Amino acid sequence: MTIRNKHSKSSAFHCNAGSRYSALAVWILIGFLLMVYFYSHVHQNDKEDILLPSSHLVNTRELEEAEEARFYFAPPKDRRSPRAVKRKGPRKQTSIIHEFLDESSQVHAYFFPNRKTAIGPLKEGNDSMYFYPGQLWLDTDGNPIQAHGGGILYDDKTATYYWYGENKNGPTYHAYKKSAARVDIIGVSCYSSKDLWRWTNEGVVLRGEETNITHDLHKSNVLERPKVIYNDKTDQYIMWMHIDDVNYTKASVGVAISDSPTGPFTYLYSMRPHYWDSRDMTIFKDDDGKAYIIYSCRDNSELHIGPLTDDYLNVTRVMKRILVGRHREAPALFKHQGIYYMITSGCTGWAPNRAQAHAAESIMGPWETMGNPCVGGNMVLRLTTFFSQSTFVVPIRGLPGTFIFMADRWNPAELKDSRYVWLPLTIGGLADEPLEYSFGFPYWPRVSIYWHKRWRLPEGWRTEETR
Ligand code: DGJ
Repeated sequence: MTIRNKHSKSSAFHCNAGSRYSALAVWILIGFLLMVYFYSHVHQNDKEDILLPSSHLVNTRELEEAEEARFYFAPPKDRRSPRAVKRKGPRKQTSIIHEFLDESSQVHAYFFPNRKTAIGPLKEGNDSMYFYPGQLWLDTDGNPIQAHGGGILYDDKTATYYWYGENKNGPTYHAYKKSAARVDIIGVSCYSSKDLWRWTNEGVVLRGEETNITHDLHKSNVLERPKVIYNDKTDQYIMWMHIDDVNYTKASVGVAISDSPTGPFTYLYSMRPHYWDSRDMTIFKDDDGKAYIIYSCRDNSELHIGPLTDDYLNVTRVMKRILVGRHREAPALFKHQGIYYMITSGCTGWAPNRAQAHAAESIMGPWETMGNPCVGGNMVLRLTTFFSQSTFVVPIRGLPGTFIFMADRWNPAELKDSRYVWLPLTIGGLADEPLEYSFGFPYWPRVSIYWHKRWRLPEGWRTEETR
């Protein structure tokens, strides 16, 4: 009995100790994994810093300050006669997005400040090198930059940045009563810069077509989101763009080539990639020289991704469906420390909506959705991507881990007056939102786009060759 008691006591002790040991083991394991996680990120950053010349150990901390924004708008005045008010009742509350889109509202005027506050190299002063998201941005001739839905190519040969985008410098109109606001195709503009702030107009490098109505680039059609990459094997600059008809039913991509980054580009053809409809799109050139196309498909309900041929002039037969059923568009893809990231928008026409960040270990997926990358400002700004829509993410040479998020603040009342919202984007820190559609937090770091009313890249960020 005693023995049995002893035995049962001792086995009870063993059992307790066993569970305590296993709990301890679990905690040690969690601690170890956290240490590996922090160590690998800190260490990877160290490694990149060490590779840089000491002059490039610049401080990017200021960019990551979460700046607050306060604005108050009085409710719009009801200008109807007392009789009309009595008959129809009080005016329905309009959302801030309706106000933002309404040319006559004070909200619209606030987010599209006039030329008095324009920035640009001709009136540098204290504002030299400062980005003012949403303010008019002038080129080196003093004209508003026309490069919407654009993207940036860094050209090693000329050590210059080239910004390509839609030239929308024509009248805005509606082709039909209920169709989206549009402008005729003028073409793709190109601007060059050494410092990402002073931009010189290199002209329209791919022109719209005035007379031939059957041509993809006929002015009555749609040309959006042009992107250019350089092919090292063929020594050619390759442009891909969204090509459509006025009703967005052609849903194709177009390809153009040039021997020079400043064009002129020769238009080759349009196609439906992998025989699917394709609207918002982008292309991405990986470190190994392989290039990919990513496009919104199946009426924007999902994205498709696939490698281009070696000459970058066509798609291959390989394609993966990603973010299926999520209804995302405006993809902007980038890479950091071997992980692929993408920012997308929702599908609400020219109206702004909430951005999402996605990440993947392999560019072909699976892609995970990590939540809203917008930080600072206020709730309204964060839920509208600072009243803009993603178009491209620019890696900053000399500042590993720091990128510029490029977005368009569309003005459908006057599309040529759409603005650019450029903000610092960094990768690092712990994720603060669980993964969408799966349990748990991502093990890769957070993507953050920081709101700043006024900001600049840190002094000394430029590498030798871009100076
Ligand atoms: C949203 C797209 O992202 C833009 O490029 C443009 O196609 C508009 N829709 C048109 O409404």
